[in-house]
Amino acid sequence: MSRWVQGAYAPVEQEVDCVDLEVDGVIPPELNGMLARIGPNPIGEVGEDHQLFLGDGMIHSLTLEGGRAVSYRNRWVRTEPVAGKLGEEPKDAPIDHLDCANTHIFPFAGSLYALTETSIPYAVSSDLDTEGRADFDGFIDTGFTAHPHVDPRTGQMHAIGYDVSPDKAATHFVFAADGSPLRKNVLELGGSSWIHDFAASEHFMIVWDLPLQYNTEMAAAGAQIPFRWTPGYEARVGLRRLDAEDASVLWFDGPQAFVFHPVNAWEETDASGKIIKVVCDTCRYPKMYDQVRTGPGDMAPPQLYRWTFDLTTGQMTEEQIDPRAQEFARIDDRFWGQKHNFAVTTELFRFTGETGIIAHYDDAEPQAWSMGKGVVTSEAVFVPESDTAAQGEGYVLAAATDAQSGASRVSIFDSQKVAKGPLAEVLLPVKMPVTFHGSWLPAVK
Ligand SMILES: [Fe+2]
Repeated sequence: MSRWVQGAYAPVEQEVDCVDLEVDGVIPPELNGMLARIGPNPIGEVGEDHQLFLGDGMIHSLTLEGGRAVSYRNRWVRTEPVAGKLGEEPKDAPIDHLDCANTHIFPFAGSLYALTETSIPYAVSSDLDTEGRADFDGFIDTGFTAHPHVDPRTGQMHAIGYDVSPDKAATHFVFAADGSPLRKNVLELGGSSWIHDFAASEHFMIVWDLPLQYNTEMAAAGAQIPFRWTPGYEARVGLRRLDAEDASVLWFDGPQAFVFHPVNAWEETDASGKIIKVVCDTCRYPKMYDQVRTGPGDMAPPQLYRWTFDLTTGQMTEEQIDPRAQEFARIDDRFWGQKHNFAVTTELFRFTGETGIIAHYDDAEPQAWSMGKGVVTSEAVFVPESDTAAQGEGYVLAAATDAQSGASRVSIFDSQKVAKGPLAEVLLPVKMPVTFHGSWLPAVK
């Protein structure tokens, strides 16, 4: 049986609504809103070659109000294939794209989107009902991404999308703060590269063009995700102005390495205010999809690195800043693109055994917390204590699943005191299989 439908990853078969959840500890009463998470929850039998990244997407929501865990709900996203599997009338016609929504649940301009890389977004309601595919009247005409980002300075949403194809290209999409499409530019890559996410400083987005490459032989053989590690590929990492209206990218020679998720990026200036360096912290793998190609199964662990782009010399350098295996970095999103003083990562032990979280601070040693043996956690989400709280002051919400029992919980930490353990744990009444990503949606005041 595929490893991706066992243990903490084993899917649930029911959609449920639960209220008045059990809580250990005290939930901070200012946490009013909904934690939405999404991950794969495949319907029916899957084969040994099942792709983790293609499992039918299920959204999970936990609503907190005034110190109470009010409710939990889960729903499959009704993509056209999922609707078919559930025996329902699809809202959308089949498309010639990967049709999947399992990776990120992302709010923008008053709407909520379920996203998967190289797929077309699905709009969902705050009740988790699928509203339908959202291509913005044809503006999204190539695969989109699971990781758009909203620039807190402009309110604009940026994304880098691409297709599962031999095309040596990716598209930079920009949406205005009101949610309307603004512009898009097709960027020329050196190869057909897997690009899961990007970082940005105040002025530049950072685009990676790394050795995980589309493989025509795998595609001809029918591989669902025809990408493989391609040693020797001429790796590049580029800086592109966020406000560029052409296809320009300033490329740097890059490492033989792979990145799913960065931490954040920022700029350094000289005395005159001229930008001389762009710096990006990132979780970095030495390779990906080499021997095992059903998910991130055979990789060497990801570690925390700092990439520095010297605009004077044209050189990119890198240094390791934490050797522990960690992924799924999140910061205080209000400060995306500025030097961050707080980040939380998920500490992995190759997706088995013990997992936990690590909080990183600018002016103090990191703090770690283990979720326990056999308990799998994934990306944690940072929630500011209030709209006006200082950067990094707030809470970390981390979901975890016991691989044996299926017992699932959401742990709430003081972001500055992670090593003290959770302030509260919401004990979910049903299993929540491992999810990839999530968002905090504050209650409307
Ligand atoms: Fe991701």
